[in-house]
Amino acid sequence: MRTSQELAVGAIAAILGHTSAIPIVVHPGGANDLVITSQDTLDETISVNNAIKAAPLASNAAEKLSISVYNNFQSDGINIYVTGLGPNGDIVCLTSSGSWYTPVGNSNETSPQEITEDIAIPLGDYETTTSFTLPSYLSSGRIWVANGDLTFYTVVAATGVLSLVEPSAVNPDDPSADVNWGFVELTTDPGGITVNLSYVDFVGLPLGIEVQGSDGTQTALGVTANAVSSICSALATKSSSNGQPWNELCMTDSSGNFLRVVAPSDYISLYPDAFDSYWTDYVSQVWAQYEKVPLTVDTQASAGQVNCTVSSGNLTCAGDNRGYVQPAASDIFGCNSGPFAIESTDNAVHQAIVPRLCAAFDRSTLLLSGGNVQPSLESSYYYTASPTNYYSKIVHQYEADGKGYAFAYDDVTPDGVLNASGLLSDPNPTVLTITVGGPTS
Ligand SMILES: *[C@@H]1O[C@H](CO)[C@@H](O)[C@H](O)[C@H]1NC(C)=O
Ligand SMILES: *[C@@H]1O[C@H](CO)[C@@H](O)[C@H](O)[C@H]1NC(C)=O
Ligand SMILES: *[C@@H]1O[C@H](CO)[C@@H](O)[C@H](O)[C@H]1NC(C)=O
Ligand SMILES: *[C@@H]1O[C@H](CO)[C@@H](O)[C@H](O)[C@H]1NC(C)=O
Ligand SMILES: *[C@@H]1O[C@H](CO)[C@@H](O)[C@H](O)[C@H]1NC(C)=O
Repeated sequence: MRTSQELAVGAIAAILGHTSAIPIVVHPGGANDLVITSQDTLDETISVNNAIKAAPLASNAAEKLSISVYNNFQSDGINIYVTGLGPNGDIVCLTSSGSWYTPVGNSNETSPQEITEDIAIPLGDYETTTSFTLPSYLSSGRIWVANGDLTFYTVVAATGVLSLVEPSAVNPDDPSADVNWGFVELTTDPGGITVNLSYVDFVGLPLGIEVQGSDGTQTALGVTANAVSSICSALATKSSSNGQPWNELCMTDSSGNFLRVVAPSDYISLYPDAFDSYWTDYVSQVWAQYEKVPLTVDTQASAGQVNCTVSSGNLTCAGDNRGYVQPAASDIFGCNSGPFAIESTDNAVHQAIVPRLCAAFDRSTLLLSGGNVQPSLESSYYYTASPTNYYSKIVHQYEADGKGYAFAYDDVTPDGVLNASGLLSDPNPTVLTITVGGPTS
């Protein structure tokens, strides 16, 4: 499961104040154009995690991880950035000399301050490998790869907490908006490495990952070399046939070169009315169906299968602490708002039903034969009915091995079926390899 974070829906739209364009042409700005949401910030945890300092972490092969980055992109202006939280919970950025830079922040500065330290690691020429080693464990880590330069900022909140303000894939006015970039996410700790690809928010520069370690060699190949332009033409075809703004999910630079495709939930954060009636009839049909017969959700946990039925307008499930109102388009695409927002007081049944119900909507399997048990249908049935999440459908088509989350609960699968998360883990990693520019074969 991807830890969902609230996007300030409408906040970006309010700042942009311009109407939708096809596709969106980015206008990179400066620090004043940053739109700081929890999605693009990393907060230090140093104050709450001081205990970690007292007890040194056990040693593991992941502690000083070797990373190799292969250039399959035919460009010589590529930079790598490594950011995250070090073992003490402070923000760290890897410098080109191989040590951590730890920004301290100045609590007198209330506006974001650009990081001017040299935190860009140049990638070698086409068809060469650039290798480096992390100085320590890293959590909430990201390895960013950019065809050009990315700009990072720090900001100190009124509470005194220092945050790293990272490039935003969604804000067309972000200072790094006209750069083609992508990232992989990783955490290393005494348990080893967890690393993943994610297209939950966008598809940008193609990156693939491989981990070698005590579990052997594992890969997630990522999207193909020209995936962004292929996805954009498939989305444009879909817009012509169903009149929805799929084509507007694409962003280009001022010369018309495709940079990235943003997910529908992120597009809705820019244009809150987008897709607003897209799911309405489908949701009504689902509600009507499960007023007549039960929807059985397999919690895949101790609660086993639970039956859900619609009455008085809500879907309610046996053993669940509360019911579900009909979801809006933004709820279905984002899986973290409306009926799909999970509260800390929700019980285990509710927490198991939200991912399975939201995945069933995104994949449009609820009205198919067999769709009355969720999850149960295999992936060949996903996205076969309309409306559906065509972003997710098309992104999976351009993943070389079908792996990599394209919506938040893309890891929901029936028992015994491997999920498409693109998450790799190993208890004793020897090397993480990243391939830039699409798979080599
Ligand atoms: C913050 O401002 C105060 C008062 O002007 C000054 O004494 C202090 O040195 C400043 N702190 C930093 C970190 O610049
Ligand atoms: C990817 O890995 C990071 C770091 O371990 C984690 O915080 C994040 O939730 C993961 N994302 C997904 C989509 O699994
Ligand atoms: C759930 O619904 C199905 C289909 O109507 C039914 O066969 C089953 O007995 C129900 N389960 C429970 C626990 O009520
Ligand atoms: C429907 O569910 C929502 C959310 O749990 C709740 O606030 C509302 O009271 C419910 N409505 C009915 C008619 O039960
Ligand atoms: C998805 O698959 C990955 C890799 O096999 C695994 O580590 C992860 O736990 C799985 N996620 C879920 C929710 O089953």
